[in-house]
Amino acid sequence: MSKLIVANWKMNNSFADIQDYVKELRRQVKGDGNIVVCVPSVMLKDFSTSARGIAQAGAQNCHYAEKGAFTGEVSAKMVKDAGATYVLVGHSERRENFNEKNEFLNKKLNSALSCGLKVIFCVGEKLEEKTKYKSVLKKQIIEGFAHVKDFANIIVAYEPVWAIGTGMVATDLDIERAHKFIKSVVKEYFGAVVPVLYGGSVKPSNAKEILANPEVDGVLVGGASLNASDFASIILSR
Ligand code: PGA
Repeated sequence: MSKLIVANWKMNNSFADIQDYVKELRRQVKGDGNIVVCVPSVMLKDFSTSARGIAQAGAQNCHYAEKGAFTGEVSAKMVKDAGATYVLVGHSERRENFNEKNEFLNKKLNSALSCGLKVIFCVGEKLEEKTKYKSVLKKQIIEGFAHVKDFANIIVAYEPVWAIGTGMVATDLDIERAHKFIKSVVKEYFGAVVPVLYGGSVKPSNAKEILANPEVDGVLVGGASLNASDFASIILSR
């Protein structure tokens, strides 16, 4: 099974970019079910339709409620109906900029799972927490996965906050230690085995080395996924 390669466009690219992006991906890589592009919610329908057979569409967020008075929000079912098969939950930008806490993220995760979405649950320590990364990750995992019975649709993404968008990549040893630790906590507290992706300044020049690490089950790519050729070259590094 090939490793999972996930793009996170964040609030970038436009409707007009979708066709060319998908065309370039088709030109360079073969669709194998393990390529995902998380696009802004409003682009899910267009992207999922254009990218059929080459990449799956992912949402970057969803609300935990099925429906209701939550102006501006979209539910898990809505993003699924719009074409998403995956959703990111707990990205550090949401934890930080939108003050999303573990308990809230746990509700989102459970809501997304109940709709049949695959969840990429992001965890990671901040720079000032680097020396105590284990306790930070453990809390994010234990609180984030409360009440989860079935882990079949959960993928964890380890994204040290200090490595996101900074060009500072975690060392092979940092990655290996954190991934092993995450897997051991999920096993110990939930009796489950989860794949763990690495995210944080992944680019064409370092993807091969990161993906060669046996503890790394794939990558989550922000900046370098905005350009289809760069993203394709990361996919080709598997
Ligand atoms: P980056 O972002 O690749 O630009 O560091 C990763 C992410 O935020 O998921």
